[in-house]
Amino acid sequence: MVRIAVFASGTGSNYEAIMKYADQLAVPDIQISLLVCDQPQAGAIAKAQQWQTPVFLVQRRQFADKKAFEQHILLRLKEDKIEFIALAGYMRLIGPTLLNEYYGRIINLHPSLLPTFPGLDAVGQALSAGVKVTGVTVHFVDAGMDTGPIIAQQAVTVDDCDDHESLSRKIHAVEHDLYPRIVHQCATGQIYLDQGRVCYRVLSSLRSSEE
Ligand code: GAR
Repeated sequence: MVRIAVFASGTGSNYEAIMKYADQLAVPDIQISLLVCDQPQAGAIAKAQQWQTPVFLVQRRQFADKKAFEQHILLRLKEDKIEFIALAGYMRLIGPTLLNEYYGRIINLHPSLLPTFPGLDAVGQALSAGVKVTGVTVHFVDAGMDTGPIIAQQAVTVDDCDDHESLSRKIHAVEHDLYPRIVHQCATGQIYLDQGRVCYRVLSSLRSSEE
């Protein structure tokens, strides 16, 4: 059972999608053991309470610098034996303190086809740019802003009638389908990072049936 921490700053709909997915697994080989949240008002906290996931609320302004902030988080992750981190709307850059410990075992979800529209309000950026296609990206986290080796992408059509709300809804629907599967595959080592390249493990049952 791989112990996972989900980091969130917002409504937590992707956290909840991961919970639902994990709940339905025939072989429950992952466990969402902790929600790390940096915003006391975040909807993710109430959702975690409903799902009975322990919540670790930690506010950046209570620490002198980013290093102290992340050391505090790291201590809790170690106490809870967290092996894998899924960022789900966590609106902070991950610094060296967490990255040194979890590089290759920390992934992020972003509402655009990276490297286009990184950073804040990717949906608004897509609408302003007038693109006809945007989408969703899942990637391993590195020190950059929404950079790092890409694991999966899925396109979303921008219709002429779309506004911020309708496009966000379409993107969320894709995220809720895609992200839990990728979290599961990465956490259990079916997808992994090897010298900066994203690799996919061939399942032995599949291989033997082909031989
Ligand atoms: C998601 O759309 C996610 O892609 C985005 O925040 C939203 C969180 O929604 N993440 C980023 O923009 C990261 N740069 P949620 O709180 O409902 O899961």
